[in-house]
Amino acid sequence: PEKVSTLLLFGATGDLAHRMLLPSLYGLHADGLLPDNFKIVGTARSELNDEQYRASAVEALKEHVPANFYDPKSALVFSRRLTYVCLDATKPEGFKKLAKTVDPSAGLAIFLSTAPTLFKAVIDGLEANGLTGPRVRLALEKPLGTDLASSRVINDAVAIAFPEDRTFRIDHYLGKETVQNLLALRFANSMFEPLWNSAHIDHVQITVAEGIGLEERGAYYDGAGALRDMVQNHMLQLLALVAMEPPADFDATSIRDEKVKVLRTLRPMRPDDVSDHVVTGQYRKGAVGGDPVPGYTEELGKESTTETFVALKAHVENWRWAGVPFYLRTGKRMAERKTEIFIQFKCVPHSIFASRGARTQPNKLVIAIQPEENIRLLVMAKTPGLDREGIRLREVPLDVGMANAFADARRRIAYERLLLDLIDGDPTLFVRRDEVEAQWQWIDGVRAAWEGAGLTPKPYGAGSWGPSAAIALTERDGVHWHD
Ligand code: BG6
Repeated sequence: PEKVSTLLLFGATGDLAHRMLLPSLYGLHADGLLPDNFKIVGTARSELNDEQYRASAVEALKEHVPANFYDPKSALVFSRRLTYVCLDATKPEGFKKLAKTVDPSAGLAIFLSTAPTLFKAVIDGLEANGLTGPRVRLALEKPLGTDLASSRVINDAVAIAFPEDRTFRIDHYLGKETVQNLLALRFANSMFEPLWNSAHIDHVQITVAEGIGLEERGAYYDGAGALRDMVQNHMLQLLALVAMEPPADFDATSIRDEKVKVLRTLRPMRPDDVSDHVVTGQYRKGAVGGDPVPGYTEELGKESTTETFVALKAHVENWRWAGVPFYLRTGKRMAERKTEIFIQFKCVPHSIFASRGARTQPNKLVIAIQPEENIRLLVMAKTPGLDREGIRLREVPLDVGMANAFADARRRIAYERLLLDLIDGDPTLFVRRDEVEAQWQWIDGVRAAWEGAGLTPKPYGAGSWGPSAAIALTERDGVHWHD
């Protein structure tokens, strides 16, 4: 694939553009990674001229680029790459102006950072004005539907103008350096893979805990809930990367083929399973990091039964993972921000230390994704001493702190990698349609099962680790959440 020469950004004045996309493009510019004549055309409904848009972009950079990386001169030079076209996606005029500004035959990447309700109108407008074609690729971001059927409607509408190899579905977790590092850990080391199966692994936990609440996204979030907002995409992608078979190569087809196989082996949730496989919750008022915060419905301003927390026990039904539970949990307003994959190995088959009064614990591998990136293997060691009163064993960590190991590497926003791959035309870290559909298929089943079972969200205090039922979910199996 060839590099495109222009990025066309729909939703160019929106929150994602200001917080993530413009700072990411600035990062690529400052590192000399954007092609020399690369242009960025922003569109949105606001009536702005180029200069006004450039000024607003510079303001956004000042606010969102880390101070030690922000350079006013470089920001100014970057802003000259930007132009702006005022466009209402439901009307034809804007697209006509756009057609005069961008040349799709010179290679164009289009990023839809707008509400999905506008996708069809945008695609129709692009089509009608000659802004599609073999050298145009399209990036879109969730929410791509609220279930399998509605996601198919969106994907079908997109597919009319953009075949799958030019459709780049974003899951920003795949742009995170730490998530990509999972592949390096598993497939660039020989010591983990032989143990990476049900013979040696007792269970897996995936936690994506957030301290933040609604953040003025109530209208979207209340219609989605934690299952659709976080599990359907980010958490199932993490699960797929943990559980997939080794791909033959680091290329888009090999990696995505292996991920989709895992997603399709998730055991469908049955209504009878719900009571011991699913817990949902909704936060009440409390305190996060010492600051008092209101409850969900107060923040939202109305009554709601939307879940802001979900804990699930999932099963990957294949030869490698038979009998190994995958516990997933995510929530807003939890005790702290923490994304982590925790793998507990099986106990030694026989402890030679038992007769000396010492207890062994199973080995654990903790892959901390954020806020700190860290890989920690917990191993048993003997406590120093003469052992006159018996042997004492203790768990000690073997730590790889990535921040120290790679101290001079700048921490990039996930979107930097994804935007660069979009410009280059490398789809490896984007989600293929069959993956999205397998994800929805499983999620729809979970939802249907919990609705069938009449599950309602249990209250939890903001700043906690979720409802107590989530603790019972694992304790029933003799497993503790790793907190
Ligand atoms: C988004 C969700 O996809 O991911 C948000 O819609 C969530 O609700 C966010 O806060 C979390 O992303 P990150 O990168 O901060 O873990």
